[in-house]
Amino acid sequence: MADEYLIPSDEQMFDAYEAGHLVALVLDSDRANPLFRAPIGDNPRHILDLGTGKGTWAIDVADMFPQATVRGVDLFPPPVSFTAPNCVFEVDNSLEEWTWHEQFDLVHMRILIGSFDPKEWDHIYKQIYDNLQPGGWIEQLEASPYIECDDGSVPEDSVLKTWGPNMITYTIRKAGFVEMHQKTYKWPIGAWARERRYREAGTVNLQHWLDGMEGWCMWLLTKFGSPKPWTREEVIFYVAKMRAELKNPRYHIYQRARRVWARKPFYYEVLKTPDSMPDTDRTPEVQSPEEGN
Ligand SMILES: C[S@@+](CC[C@H](N)C(=O)[O-])C[C@H]1O[C@@H](n2cnc3c(N)ncnc32)[C@H](O)[C@@H]1O
Repeated sequence: MADEYLIPSDEQMFDAYEAGHLVALVLDSDRANPLFRAPIGDNPRHILDLGTGKGTWAIDVADMFPQATVRGVDLFPPPVSFTAPNCVFEVDNSLEEWTWHEQFDLVHMRILIGSFDPKEWDHIYKQIYDNLQPGGWIEQLEASPYIECDDGSVPEDSVLKTWGPNMITYTIRKAGFVEMHQKTYKWPIGAWARERRYREAGTVNLQHWLDGMEGWCMWLLTKFGSPKPWTREEVIFYVAKMRAELKNPRYHIYQRARRVWARKPFYYEVLKTPDSMPDTDRTPEVQSPEEGN
């Protein structure tokens, strides 16, 4: 799939990634560390951001932990000319064999929905598991492509209801991780929410969609559009209709997002079970759900 990665890497997409980064930060702005939740302590040595995009998360985390090396890896180089010496960007396909020698304290992924098919996800999670140190953490934040609305303000025939399927299936547990946590969010789209933090997040998220939509759907629809592949012009027309409706201030719309973090077991935990495999079935799926709003 990587050969034909569906999202172009151009300035508008980098703007979209930056907006997505800001939405995530705004919605966790009440936390001392809004960048991730995995409890990796104050002295991590090696951190990896897989599919780093514009690289802003990696740069921010490198600032936060000057003693750590933060690697951002992507199929495309991020548009940065200067970074802190402890932030390293590498152009690579994460589906290929990983050649880093260090064991990571944290591997982070964000908005990689659509980047890998289910088998590739299994492979990615296994690679992460194998390259984390025992007790190291994985964390992933994904936003659903479904546009939702709780108060009926979007009419049934709105084009917004057609955007969508393809929710990511989480297979983190299958790879052997334990102590799984999650936090769910609602990411408003547009400045309709009453509370200031959500209004701000919604304003930036609207921009995220306006910048990102064409890139997100052009490849998919011109290749797999229904009932037959769409033409480029049809996609552009569709995106224009989506844009107009997204901007309708009467629509109280949002998308759901989910952050999941989990730990690689220590050796003694792996050895505990009779067949030398972590008994992930005994780990409750969600230890501390908190419903955002
Ligand atoms: C939607 S962007 C998200 C970027 C960033 N994580 C963020 O949250 O802003 C997905 C990124 O994954 C990268 N990507 C997709 N497949 C990849 C692969 N096989 N190896 C490395 N990076 C990949 C893309 O190039 C793109 O930059």
